[in-house]
Amino acid sequence: MKDETFYVTTPIYYVNDKAHIGHAYTTILADVLTRFHRMLGASTHFLTGTDEHGQKVEKAAQAAGMTPQEQADSTVVRFQELWKKLEITNDDFIRTTEPRHKLVVQKILQDLYDRGEIYRDEYDGWYCTPCERFFTEKDLQDGCCPECRREVEQIREANYFFRMSRRQDWLVKYIEDHPDFIQPSFRRNETLGFLRKPLNDLCISRPKKRLNWGIELPFDTDFVTYVWFDALVNYISAIGYLADEDQFTRWWPANYHLIGKDILTTHTVYWPTMLHAMGLPMPKTIFAHGWWLLGDSKMSKSIGNVVNPMEMADRYGVDAFRYFVMTEMSLGQDANFSEEAFMRRFNSDLANDLGNLLSRVLKMAHSYCGGVVPEAGAMDGPEEQELLSCVHQAASGMEEALDRMKIDQGVTGVLTAVRAVNRYLEQKQPWTLAKQEDKGPLHTTLYAALESLRVTAGLLQPVMPGKMQAIRLALGLDDGMPTFAELKEWGLLQAGTMLRKVPVLFPRIQKEEPPVILEKAGQVAKKNEGKKASSAAETPLGVITYDEFMKVQLRTACVTAAERVDGTDKLLKLQVDVGGIPRQLVAGIAQQYAPEQLLGKQIVIVANLKPAVIRGIESNGMLLAANDADGLKLITVDGAATSGVPVR
Ligand code: MSP
Repeated sequence: MKDETFYVTTPIYYVNDKAHIGHAYTTILADVLTRFHRMLGASTHFLTGTDEHGQKVEKAAQAAGMTPQEQADSTVVRFQELWKKLEITNDDFIRTTEPRHKLVVQKILQDLYDRGEIYRDEYDGWYCTPCERFFTEKDLQDGCCPECRREVEQIREANYFFRMSRRQDWLVKYIEDHPDFIQPSFRRNETLGFLRKPLNDLCISRPKKRLNWGIELPFDTDFVTYVWFDALVNYISAIGYLADEDQFTRWWPANYHLIGKDILTTHTVYWPTMLHAMGLPMPKTIFAHGWWLLGDSKMSKSIGNVVNPMEMADRYGVDAFRYFVMTEMSLGQDANFSEEAFMRRFNSDLANDLGNLLSRVLKMAHSYCGGVVPEAGAMDGPEEQELLSCVHQAASGMEEALDRMKIDQGVTGVLTAVRAVNRYLEQKQPWTLAKQEDKGPLHTTLYAALESLRVTAGLLQPVMPGKMQAIRLALGLDDGMPTFAELKEWGLLQAGTMLRKVPVLFPRIQKEEPPVILEKAGQVAKKNEGKKASSAAETPLGVITYDEFMKVQLRTACVTAAERVDGTDKLLKLQVDVGGIPRQLVAGIAQQYAPEQLLGKQIVIVANLKPAVIRGIESNGMLLAANDADGLKLITVDGAATSGVPVR
């Protein structure tokens, strides 16, 4: 064990939408690493949380007819529920709207401003709204945002800037001198490549007239903090920076900031220069993993091809899902998600190799040894020696894999050992040995298999905590967590220990034809053509059946009255007529529509939405609007239509 403390972080997730497999992946990875380090005896601290300020969240709130805080409060619960479901053992969960975070951001800003690290200037440049970033003319690619390739708008305004450029030489040298700082190494080269161009100062403010939802600058109340400057600080505000010195020095610097490759620049350029200006040490490693792809494209809400982790866990079990994402993605590279690959891996590794091994060994131990761990003879036969070396190799390989951040390879090594146990049983044939007078060879064989199961299940426990604990219990062990030292030692299972029966751990997934996993929306539709509406259980993830869609009652409605909601410039209170029945709705369209513009309009509403109270006003339903880059645009009915008729 190298470090006594282990502090790992995930990115904090935007609360503009619910979590998808990309978010789940990083969080599971952080959890697996933390659990392994606990097994190594380290004191661990695992931080995750939510990024709740900025334009994305403000826009999502607008579209949902909520305040940004309401949007954050309702979405954060979904993340927290998902982490609970996925058995994530984070020690802390930070929300950037919490006072403990806002206060630290403001203290840092004030200090940097007082020391001349932040200055005010007039800015003339290009702004990408989805990325919330400024670019100079020469940064643009074909006139579009170099990051997301979407349109940018020209902006001229006063703002505050952090003197990032003056730290460029220092940063290049730091990265060159610390090969572990950015991993994998090709990402390090990517950042060094980025730093070959002159670095600009970083605009760290947004005028309130353009964006209200953020942490106010302590030295100018007309501005809020740029969401990235606010968000990155979570890694230190959560562990007590400027508030609890003892806690802070206990955990900082972090061992790992785990991130996706798309947020490399913010983490390897903005964050280090910010920390340097604060006089703080750098995190030990910023590790960027690849993307989960579906076909050739990144999963993204706007393409409509996201995989819902909650659905995967419900359908196949939490442990199997965790196992799949840890083994299918080689850390650092992109990986392709397909339900077919999931089922293949599940059936071969978990149902066949591991699950079968457990049930056959337990069955034989119950039939031939009275359900207790038998006494082993010497493990000096060639087959035993080979097995022992394979199991040892799995344990040391896992430790090495952890060090090199190659979890998938570590797990593959364990599965190799599991297969070796199956092979060993085939060679030794305990069912034949059981017929012999001398029970010694039978007992040695079954002991070796049971002990190998103790070690291999222990090595997989961080990845599949629930099922591997069930194996521990079946082996007569307690429900605790093994230490790495115990897994490197042979012979810890005590002869005479009662074994317990367990139900089949990984029942084979029987599917004649793998279901269509979300590809592009169009392809899914094509493959389903001609098929009758299938039951929910047979439906590809994220795709709904005709019946499910029909549960949403869309109706035309005529706006009869509209007024602004006090205390917000985003919401309108509408009275609508739905087939002669009056209704009240609250909608977040006040920035695009004046109340009088709406009178008499035939709009479309979701009529069977559970009523909600927004700003103390009851809202019965939701109107539909297109969420265009330049604002919300109402969906209206073409020509004269009766109010209250269904929309299909
Ligand atoms: N809020 C910022 C992070 C601030 S950290 C101080 C953010 N949030 S996010 O919700 O948009 O994305 C969070 C993480 O999810 C990022 O690391 C991103 O790379 C990751 N993923 C988003 N889509 C992904 C895939 N399809 N596959 C894997 N990870 C992906 O960015």
